Amino acid sequence: MTKIIKEIDIAVREILSGNVIALPTETVYGLGGNALNEGAVLKIFETKERPVFNPLIVHIHDIDEISKYGTDINDKVYSLAEKFSPGPITFVVKKKNIIPDIVTSGNDSVALRIPAHPVFREVLKRSGVPISAPSANRFGKISPTTADDVFKELTGKIDYIIDGGKCSVGIESTVVSFIDDETRILRHGFITKEKIESVVGKVSEKFSDKIISPGLMKSHYAPLTPLYFTDSMSEINNISDKRIGILDFSKYRSKEEIALNLFSDLRKLDEMNFDMIICRKIDSKGLGTAINERLEKASSGSIQNANGSAVIKSKV
Ligand code: TXA
Ligand code: MG
Repeated sequence: MTKIIKEIDIAVREILSGNVIALPTETVYGLGGNALNEGAVLKIFETKERPVFNPLIVHIHDIDEISKYGTDINDKVYSLAEKFSPGPITFVVKKKNIIPDIVTSGNDSVALRIPAHPVFREVLKRSGVPISAPSANRFGKISPTTADDVFKELTGKIDYIIDGGKCSVGIESTVVSFIDDETRILRHGFITKEKIESVVGKVSEKFSDKIISPGLMKSHYAPLTPLYFTDSMSEINNISDKRIGILDFSKYRSKEEIALNLFSDLRKLDEMNFDMIICRKIDSKGLGTAINERLEKASSGSIQNANGSAVIKSKV
C-alpha cells in the first residue's frame, strides 16, 4: 500500500534502509534512493520501468560535495553553483569511483544537483548520503508536481510518498555538461540559457553522440491522449468529429506561471479522455525554450491547414 506522509524521520529511515521513496523537489517530485547503494538504484530503474541506459541525477546537499563525487571540476561549475544552487540546475562532470556505475549507466560522468526544496534538503542532511532521483513518473510519462500526481503514477509500487506540497517551479532542472572542456546544455530547464551565459559566457547546445540523455530523446513527457500543435486555433473548427481538449496558456501572466502549471494542466486534460489535446507553442525567448522543448516531446504531431481543411501530420 502506498502512503502519502509528511514524516521526514520515515523518509530518512527508508533511504538508509536501501528503499525507494518519492520526495518533493522544487522542480518536480523525484523517486529517490541512496545513490551509493546499487540495490536501491536498481529499484529506482525497476519502479520507473526506466531503461538502464538512462543515467540518474545525484542530489547532494552542499557545493562542497561536488568534488566528493566529481573530479576535474571546471571553475564554471562553481560560478554557476554559487549563483543558482540550491536550485533547478544540474552539472554533468567527470565522476569519481565512489559513484556506482549503475547510477551513470556506465558513463564516466555524473550529473549532480543541489535541490532547493526544504524537505528534500532535510532528508539529504539527516541521511548523510547522496540521493539518486529521476522524476517520479513511469518512464516517458508526464512528470509529477504534487504528491497526488505521484500516487496516480506509482501507487502500489512504492511504500511512501513524502508530501511537500505543489512544486514551486513545475518543470525539471536545466542539465549542463562540462565534459570535454565544453559547456553544453543537454536539457533546457528553469535556469535559462540566457541566465547561464550571463555567468559563464557562450554555451553550446549541439547534440553529442557521446552523451546519452533522455532529455535528448524525441518522445518524453507524453500524455496518453495525443497532443498536437497548431499555429491557428481556427483549425479546430474543421475537426468537428473529435472531442478536443485545449491546453490554453493565455490565462497565465508569465512564462514562469506557464512552467509552473504545464505538467499539471496536461495531466488534467489527459484525465478527461479527450480524443486529442491541442495547443500552440509559445515564443522561444527565455523560459519559452524549455517549455516548447517539453511540448515538442509530449506531442504526436501538428495540425495544419491544407486547402481549407485540417490535416493531422504525425511526428516521425
Ligand atoms: O529537476 C530535475 O532534474 C528532476 C528532479 C527530481 O531533481 N529530476 C529529473 O531526473 O528530471 P530525470 O532522470 O527525469 O532526468 C535526468 C536527466 C536526463 O535527461 C538524463 O539523461 C540526464 O539528466 N543525465 C543524468 N546523468 C547524466 C550523465 N551522466 N550524462 C548526461 N546526462 C545525464
Ligand atoms: Mg523525467
